[in-house]
Amino acid sequence: MEVRTRKIKAEDYQIRGGRMKKCKKNRKNVKKITLANQLSLKKLLSLSSNSENNSQIMKKECVLVCGGAGYIGSHTTVELINAGYDVVVVDNFSNSDISAVENVRKITGAEIPCIEADCCDMEAFRKVFEKYDFNSAIHFAASKAVGESVQKPMMYYRNNLTSLMNLIDLMREFGRQNIVFSSSCTVYGEPDKQPVTELTPRKPATSPYGNTKQISEDFLRDSVAAYEGLKSIALRYFNPIGAHPSALIGELPRGVPQNLVPYVTQTAAGIRECLSIFGDDYNTPDGSCIRDYIDVTDLAKAHVAAINRMVEGKSEERYEVFNVGTGRGVSVLELVNKFQEVNNVKLNYKIAPRRAGDIIAIWADPTRANTVLGWKAERTIEETLASAWAWEKHLRGIK
Ligand SMILES: NC(=O)c1ccc[n+]([C@@H]2O[C@H](COP(=O)([O-])OP(=O)(O)OC[C@H]3O[C@@H](n4cnc5c(N)ncnc54)[C@H](O)[C@@H]3O)[C@@H](O)[C@H]2O)c1
Repeated sequence: MEVRTRKIKAEDYQIRGGRMKKCKKNRKNVKKITLANQLSLKKLLSLSSNSENNSQIMKKECVLVCGGAGYIGSHTTVELINAGYDVVVVDNFSNSDISAVENVRKITGAEIPCIEADCCDMEAFRKVFEKYDFNSAIHFAASKAVGESVQKPMMYYRNNLTSLMNLIDLMREFGRQNIVFSSSCTVYGEPDKQPVTELTPRKPATSPYGNTKQISEDFLRDSVAAYEGLKSIALRYFNPIGAHPSALIGELPRGVPQNLVPYVTQTAAGIRECLSIFGDDYNTPDGSCIRDYIDVTDLAKAHVAAINRMVEGKSEERYEVFNVGTGRGVSVLELVNKFQEVNNVKLNYKIAPRRAGDIIAIWADPTRANTVLGWKAERTIEETLASAWAWEKHLRGIK
């Protein structure tokens, strides 16, 4: 079996204080070798380095984080660095700000190369592959507002699918191996049974955004089946909320927030007059919709577990799917009451009519992620809601 991998030269790496810094490489060094002979990056580094700090250096591999300035990407960058990886960020800042990367640098003390480029622009994206060496990439670089996707479907199909297709093509061209993909529980639609497992059938998508997630999963499944050098893990996120405990990074919505928690925190901060809860007459215990709210730092750690699994050669299949949720369904009303209680703030809210397209209830069965991936959600909803409020206060300068 043949795979494409890279020939590593010790001088391609700047090693300072036992840390492998920039992962600079030239694509001319791409070379075909057999799988049997394939040496991992770790092994090659250990062979090619004369440093006495090999054990530390061997921990380092580089991960490309596409969309790393965004909400989940910035938290994942922190956790990758905490876990001993080097990170290169690429982002077009269409829904984020460079300050998020600067704050990740502050939190971690790491030098993080950040390239402003559009992953849909093949030539610009190729330059990132020419310049940096990494064997793993995470794809966060997508547009994510369900409502907007209904208004502007072609923008969603173009951005979400082209950026992923370009990533797959470049991974193949440069002999890079591992892709983690940001999928979503939207692929399950309105499930017939709770909680949902990875075997719960995907239902026809209810929005262009949801459709891009289903198609992207299919792209990855089919690409991995066809191209032996590739491996991929799709993480189906439930509802990410909260912010980093430092309050230096968090969700930064542009305009009116589309997600519940940023709307809650902005209402508490006095930026929004009143929070609308869409429907209290659903067939749920308190009549409001039920979701599985996952702390963003916990979610970030799931990406580290997925990268570790592929880097360490532990994948059972070359394409795998995991639910990333807590396994706990929390209603919208419960969440709003909990937010007020934990943060000792009063929220102005009203019950509004049901919103078209809202799923009534969904929560994860995270058993597969817990047992196979070795990842488990750890933070309590109280900690998470306190972190969300601390982040909003930090943003608005509220004491
Ligand atoms: N936040 C959620 O509730 C949620 C739930 C399920 C899945 N997801 C998925 O997770 C991923 C990250 O979500 P997020 O909440 O961090 O969103 P985000 O908008 O905060 O982050 C996405 C980042 O990608 C960048 N980007 C978008 N298109 C790009 C392109 N073509 N080239 C380069 N950069 C590009 C944006 O500027 C932004 O920094 C997305 O794929 C999203 O669909 C998010």
